[in-house]
Amino acid sequence: MSDESRSTPAQTPVAAVIPAAGRGVRLGPGAPKALRALNGTPMLIHAIRALAASRHVSLVVVVAPPDGAAEVKSLLDAHSLPERTDFLVVPGGETRQESVRLGLDALPPQYGIVLVHDAARPLVPVDTVDGVIEAVRDGALAVVPALPLADTVKEVEPAAETGEPEPVVATPARARLRAVQTPQGFDRATLVRAHETVIGDVTDDASMVEQLGATVVAVPGHEEAFKVTRPLDLVLAEAVLARRRLNDGF
Ligand code: CTP
Ligand code: MG
Repeated sequence: MSDESRSTPAQTPVAAVIPAAGRGVRLGPGAPKALRALNGTPMLIHAIRALAASRHVSLVVVVAPPDGAAEVKSLLDAHSLPERTDFLVVPGGETRQESVRLGLDALPPQYGIVLVHDAARPLVPVDTVDGVIEAVRDGALAVVPALPLADTVKEVEPAAETGEPEPVVATPARARLRAVQTPQGFDRATLVRAHETVIGDVTDDASMVEQLGATVVAVPGHEEAFKVTRPLDLVLAEAVLARRRLNDGF
């Protein structure tokens, strides 16, 4: 690739796409997960603020529940958000993958770097966001924040019914495994190509880029970037917020 064909990395504008269109089935009955409150503020607003806290992020595209775009727009109006950041809201789809693609479709042309961040990870620290952006600016086509695992992981032959014993087929060496978080950062053209090319179920965006044959790199993630998935995660998230408030007070 010639120098001319790539804009100067340090000047390439960065946008964040936040898929927030999921129902949150594992969290139990209630409003769509992204709209549930953490200490009185919707999880989605926490997630938007976490991304907009990076001075590199100049646009945030929120992918709302399919019938909830108007509600999300009024939520954004009702909460204070940084003035230097632009916001867009688009309706999402049936799967996370489809929601991310709908968010990518809404991106204006100047954004050469895209972050994809789960609304369900409302507490990601800004240093993690900036670390991902820096790695993309340094030339990586795809970057994931990742942490070593505490548990040993087994591959099993999944049982037909939950609760039935499952034969263990392998134990990958834990030292080589990482738990992957978001925001994941991408060269925009690479991510768009992945979304145009890869079909089939995936649970993150980077694995689509892997399927293209492109290299994905992992940078340090953060404990506080955990995903709110089950009811106990709400307790943990509110405890993290309480600890932050306490620390801010000193
Ligand atoms: N997501 C989305 N569109 C979908 C499904 C998921 O935008 N059709 C988003 C969720 O809103 C969430 C992120 O993808 O921010 C990660 O998904 P997950 O944690 O699985 O959230 P849900 O799908 O809402 O939860 P569950 O799987 O328990 O229903
Ligand atoms: Mg889901």
